[in-house]
Amino acid sequence: MVAGTTSQVLVASNRGPVSFSLDGEGSLTAKRGGGGLVSGLSAIGPEADAVWVCAALGEGDREAVRRHAGRLDPADTGGQTVRMLDIPAATFEAAYQGIANSVLWFTHHMLYQTPLEPAFDVDFTRQWAAYEEYNAAFADALAEEAGRGATVLVQDYHLTLVPGLLRERRPDLRIGHFSHTPWAPADYYRLLPDEVAARVLRGMLGADRTAFLTRRWARLFTESCARVLGATVSEAAGPSAEAETLATVTYEGRTTRIGVHPLGADGDFLRERAYRPDVDERRAQLREQIGTAPEGGPRRTVVRVDRTELSKNIVRGLYAYRRLLLDHPEWRERVVHLAFAYPSRQDLSVYRDYTAEVSRVADGINAEFGTPAWTPVVLHVKDDFARSLAAYRLADVALVNPIRDGMNLVAKEIPVVSEDGCALVLSREAGAYEEMGEDALCVNPFDITATASALRTALTMDPAERQERTKRLAATATAHPPTRWFLDQLTRIAAAG
Ligand code: G6P
Repeated sequence: MVAGTTSQVLVASNRGPVSFSLDGEGSLTAKRGGGGLVSGLSAIGPEADAVWVCAALGEGDREAVRRHAGRLDPADTGGQTVRMLDIPAATFEAAYQGIANSVLWFTHHMLYQTPLEPAFDVDFTRQWAAYEEYNAAFADALAEEAGRGATVLVQDYHLTLVPGLLRERRPDLRIGHFSHTPWAPADYYRLLPDEVAARVLRGMLGADRTAFLTRRWARLFTESCARVLGATVSEAAGPSAEAETLATVTYEGRTTRIGVHPLGADGDFLRERAYRPDVDERRAQLREQIGTAPEGGPRRTVVRVDRTELSKNIVRGLYAYRRLLLDHPEWRERVVHLAFAYPSRQDLSVYRDYTAEVSRVADGINAEFGTPAWTPVVLHVKDDFARSLAAYRLADVALVNPIRDGMNLVAKEIPVVSEDGCALVLSREAGAYEEMGEDALCVNPFDITATASALRTALTMDPAERQERTKRLAATATAHPPTRWFLDQLTRIAAAG
């Protein structure tokens, strides 16, 4: 049985731990995903009889669902039992792209350009109905799969209604919800139509425990509960309560605990994976691209690795690097910006436009400052984990400047594998700032001038200080590895009643 619980464990998330591709001959290949949940779940033994409920995302997944009647065994998934839901394509698109990615994601990351967007009209009403349907499909599947008294961990903004819907169907279950994103301040959250703003909160409060990556996001959630629902918020008592249970929210006679569980980097995995031969090979290739400074010795590196996500603020990061080269010409020829920006959510036109803008600005900097012997920005857009790790190893400076971010694991991973110590330029709007702010160089992500100046401070930091800071950053970064993060949540949900 699971530490601290005696029940079966179910996880629900939009994207599952495995995806399938279909080749021309009709054979299916399974690919295991990474991330905190996948490694976290590996901490529980087979006796927990874990089931992961997720959506079928592509043709391969849909075919796997058809062949296995929706329920895939550990042997087919390379992990645990997976129940994949083949939600009708139009419903899925409207719920996932329409509501989850274009409304809830935009709200919590405060990405709207408010004079024009959002504009909630009939399309939104239709998409919202689909989101309700999609959440109900998850609640139905979980209600079917869960044994008596099982613990269910529902993930993220895709599935905010599931806790409430599942409680109606199965009051015997222990239910947790976890948000991997920030939460918006109440004034911003209330851009959502009133009914929807209330419905999302009521859905999440259907859980015994609703948890966040930082205290800041948890507090903003309780602020929304008070302002939108008129719910009663009580701060948890006791000095140690802060770290795990921040507050309780009571609404319509039920009390939900509000938890904080910062997710850390998987230090053991990273230290081993980052020094395998495929990473060594990529490291050598990157060294070639980085080249040699005029006075000899390798050029310095500013490294960033992101999905090309609007919230990651890649364009302002490039402008800050340009500002550094403009105002401090002594750095020309002596530094290279390795910018790895992997395309994401390309079904949304605003993401396609942003991806194009990243390339345009990077090309502009190279045209403005580049010489035959020096490429100031090396932009890579093809996702390659081994190459990302190679860049982590070589980073003199890591640039992590999101507009707003639930945590940002890149900020935690780079110090762990860095070879010579790496100065971290970190946005104060990243969740990671709450734990790592002291040893990082912190910036307002909108302030290009200040970011340029932090890059310069980082590049000129005394090597001994840089190494000291990196050591402390790595220790903080690995304090809550995914297995512990996951087990802590289970234990706390079990204790919540
Ligand atoms: C990021 C966020 C998660 C989110 C995921 C969805 O990793 O931190 O909160 O669930 O994106 O991405 P997807 O590609 O599945 O839309």
